[in-house]
Amino acid sequence: MKGIILAGGTGSRLYPLTKVTNKHLLPVYDKPMIYYPLQTLIGAGVKDIMIVSGRGHAGHFLELLGSGADFGVKLTYEIQDEAGGIAQALGLAEDFADSENVTVILGDNIFQDNITDAVQNFKEGAHIFLKPVPDAQRFGVAEVDENNGHVLGIEEKPTQPKSDFAVTGLYIYSNDVFDIIKILKPSHRGELEITDVNNHYIQKNRMRYSVLRGFWSDAGTFDSLHCASELVRSMKTAQGDQVACLGIVSSESSECKEGN
Ligand code: DAU
Repeated sequence: MKGIILAGGTGSRLYPLTKVTNKHLLPVYDKPMIYYPLQTLIGAGVKDIMIVSGRGHAGHFLELLGSGADFGVKLTYEIQDEAGGIAQALGLAEDFADSENVTVILGDNIFQDNITDAVQNFKEGAHIFLKPVPDAQRFGVAEVDENNGHVLGIEEKPTQPKSDFAVTGLYIYSNDVFDIIKILKPSHRGELEITDVNNHYIQKNRMRYSVLRGFWSDAGTFDSLHCASELVRSMKTAQGDQVACLGIVSSESSECKEGN
């Protein structure tokens, strides 16, 4: 299993914080944002990891993370020239993946859960990780049949969500994900959407899901970035460095809520 962190995109929602640096290098409490998805992959036993970043400040990722030796992993770097979407960024990792399956994580997503079991038990198709949230319209939203464990469909940022299950930025795919990306058409916002990739697996009945138990946040808006820092801080205060970035505070018990 190879790991891929997607850290491209423009970070426009965090301007001017992102005027002279990359979103994924901004601090989330006491660490650069990208440390958290990296830690999630490392915690799942994934040791061969590609970081896809945009052109701006790409060298700073190298300066920060180097070969990966400090973390006990091997890091490889790839550039996404334009922000053509999450699925387009993933497509750039095809040669790196070789013929292996991939665990993919968005560079602005912060997870508490350890996903070792899902990664190690993965056989084929796709696996997504859902989290009930109060503001599902901000995310990809999954409709599921909880009786038989099937995912019925995913809508990207629906105005009227069919459930409160946000699709988090963590995905496990068979290597044929790269063939699926090649036949995608750009969405109305001109991007190759990861939701279209996921719906392809759903239509072929090749999608599985888990519901996360622990804290999850993205950190791509002012409020969610602030919230993520607050949550990591409260986790560390409660548990010390042992839980590091993965923390112990659940989103349900947190007072930190999105403001937009
Ligand atoms: O956070 C989870 C959500 O992430 C999911 O629920 C949505 O289904 C998914 O589309 C995505 O939504 P966002 O609108 O939050 O995605 P955003 O454009 O903010 O991109 C998230 C990360 O993906 C970003 O930190 C880096 C990476 N990315 C994004 C784009 C558009 C790339 O690497 N390249 C890109 O071109």
